[in-house]
Amino acid sequence: MKILFLADVFGVPGRRAVEEHLPSLRERYDIDLAIVNGENAADGAGITAKLADKLLAAGADVITLGNHTYRRSGIGAYLAGSERVIRPANSGSQTPGRGLAVVEARNGVHVAVLNLLGQLFLQTPVSPWEVVDSLVDEARAAAPVVVVDFHAEATSEKVALATWLDGRVTAVIGTHTHVQTNDARVLPGGTAAITDAGMTGPHDSVIGVRSELAIGRMRSRLPVRFEPAEGDVRLEGVLVTCTEAGRAEAIELVRVPA
Ligand SMILES: [Fe+2]
Repeated sequence: MKILFLADVFGVPGRRAVEEHLPSLRERYDIDLAIVNGENAADGAGITAKLADKLLAAGADVITLGNHTYRRSGIGAYLAGSERVIRPANSGSQTPGRGLAVVEARNGVHVAVLNLLGQLFLQTPVSPWEVVDSLVDEARAAAPVVVVDFHAEATSEKVALATWLDGRVTAVIGTHTHVQTNDARVLPGGTAAITDAGMTGPHDSVIGVRSELAIGRMRSRLPVRFEPAEGDVRLEGVLVTCTEAGRAEAIELVRVPA
């Protein structure tokens, strides 16, 4: 079976690209399940209920989030009531929402999607290592296919988690850094992995933000309000092929001009 993961949807250009292209991508690749990371959907930081509903309507089966989950007002109540829009499981016990979704793919197989936040160079309430094993046990009890979105800054941490989970989950897909890495591989135990799946959004930018604004903030060290860029919009992510028992067979890069 085939699972499409679209990486960090950035701003209006990213969301429009998903709406325009996800239905045909589903058809072209014969997709059984589509997962979309939507944590940058609202102007590059966070997501709103309306935007989450738009991504679901465009064909996303599950939406994952990240360090910007709670940037927009009202999203907490939405997450508390949503089965398909999940935030990192290690966001802390006081934050609304779920870190694990279990859904039925088009071919009838149940798929568990788990979202975790890295702890290196990010303000993360709970170490992912404290919770990952019990969450993976819970996911495996619910579904044979388990996909982990590991939203983390450091390459080392993403490689380490994928290696730790090899043979226990179907895929460990890195997000957050927005630059697609050249290390998509199936590990010896049958887990597909990539350090970063990329960005669905404007690539003529500094990881989604208008270049002059990002550079201006770095050079001046003054606060600068970021805005999404517009040029060179691409859909990026990975296509994972796996058995119905959850063993990965292949992982391919997806990079489609919008
Ligand atoms: Fe992020």
